[in-house]
Amino acid sequence: MFQMPLPIGPVAEPELTVNVNGRTVQYYSVTIEPFTQQVYPNLGPAHLTGYNGTAPGPTFKIPRGTETIIRYLNRGELSAAVHLHGSYTHSVWDGWASDEMQVGQWKDYYYPNSETARPIWYHDHADGHTATDAYYGQAGVYIITDSAEDALGLPSGDYDVALALSDKRYQSNGDLASPNGNPINFFGDVIHVNDQPWPYLAVEPRKYRLRFFDMSLSRPYDLYFADPSGNWIPFQVIGSDSGLFGAPVSTNNLLIAMGERYEVVVDFSSYAGKNITLGNNLQQGQIQEYDNTNKVMRFVVGNRVSDSSNNGAVPSVLNANIEWPTPRTTVDHTFNFQMGGDSVWTINGIDFSNVNNRILAKPQQGSTQLWELRHTGGPAVHPVHVHLVNMQIISRTGGSRGVLPYEAAGLKDVVLLEPGEVVRVLAFFGPENGVYMFHCHNLIHEDNTMMDAFNVTYLQA
Ligand code: C2O
Ligand code: CU
Repeated sequence: MFQMPLPIGPVAEPELTVNVNGRTVQYYSVTIEPFTQQVYPNLGPAHLTGYNGTAPGPTFKIPRGTETIIRYLNRGELSAAVHLHGSYTHSVWDGWASDEMQVGQWKDYYYPNSETARPIWYHDHADGHTATDAYYGQAGVYIITDSAEDALGLPSGDYDVALALSDKRYQSNGDLASPNGNPINFFGDVIHVNDQPWPYLAVEPRKYRLRFFDMSLSRPYDLYFADPSGNWIPFQVIGSDSGLFGAPVSTNNLLIAMGERYEVVVDFSSYAGKNITLGNNLQQGQIQEYDNTNKVMRFVVGNRVSDSSNNGAVPSVLNANIEWPTPRTTVDHTFNFQMGGDSVWTINGIDFSNVNNRILAKPQQGSTQLWELRHTGGPAVHPVHVHLVNMQIISRTGGSRGVLPYEAAGLKDVVLLEPGEVVRVLAFFGPENGVYMFHCHNLIHEDNTMMDAFNVTYLQA
């Protein structure tokens, strides 16, 4: 544990950059391909399938407004569809689950990248085997940057680190154990960050910006930083799914569920020469814990700061331009996330394979709707993800907690529903029109088939 360094993956490089009438368009190509990774030194390798043969896939860093065209070529073993989670993408390129590239086929995906700075991610979305594909490596980080964020002086460069969390299981030969055959949840006993079990990162005694992505199939985490005596270190949450908050939120722990992203600033300056452990506060109830799932990674704090730029206090105003939706009190739709018999999960009793009935909402483009999301059954949590839109979380009732301060501080594209909870969200529809999916981001549930669609309808002038 904490023996191997945190892998920092490659940054995607465009093959071609074209300027057309003031627009910048970058062309990338990514191949979905099998590869092996030596995880346990004395055992056989693990077999994965990932974007350009890496897991996580290459990291995209795209300035806001730079358009991208990414050619995905499927040389994997299963069909594939790629979804850029958290993006304003036209439905044609949104990774609709049955819009699959068969093995040997390719598709060009077009992204306008018109969103403000935010941590989004890309992963497979193929019908019925999204969980398998994400588990074996088809997931990666995609960061949109912008000048407003750059001007804030937040920790950058080597002091800005993406941390993709996932949990897996291994066979005795060193290869991965399949997540298939677990219709309720899949919980691994090995916690990975950037696909390395329990890594360490050598850091300097200064501030860091850490961007957390929960890429696990079924596991949420309650993260905390502990000093060598086990005391929790306070930190600041600065942003979430839709980018920076208006103001930072101070906390001692951070609950992050599947599909969610949170960005934090943590200050290691008082811990020179010490080890700080990123822990996972044990979850009660629906989440299966194992001996070491209470540990995530370690920060080994050195004695010297090599670059003290961007190390000041976090600005008290981070983002004055959050586009909060217009308030509305009438509930437009109620969606029950429930178990429909033997390992079938549905929304309002309708599963994705019900092609005639699966469009559950038809918001007009340009309208705001209030949706009520209800956890009405099943021994599991349901993080609900709505494609295309950003949601303001209005209320959470029916359980033991309300809306957490860092859930309310910005707009989200995933919201966690625990048993008995009812959550109201407000969303503006939308930057695009067309048919989009919404679903549970417990990928086991999504595949089985807690997913439906909504149609953002175009209003003819
Ligand atoms: Cu992150 Cu529809 O998915
Ligand atoms: Cu679910």
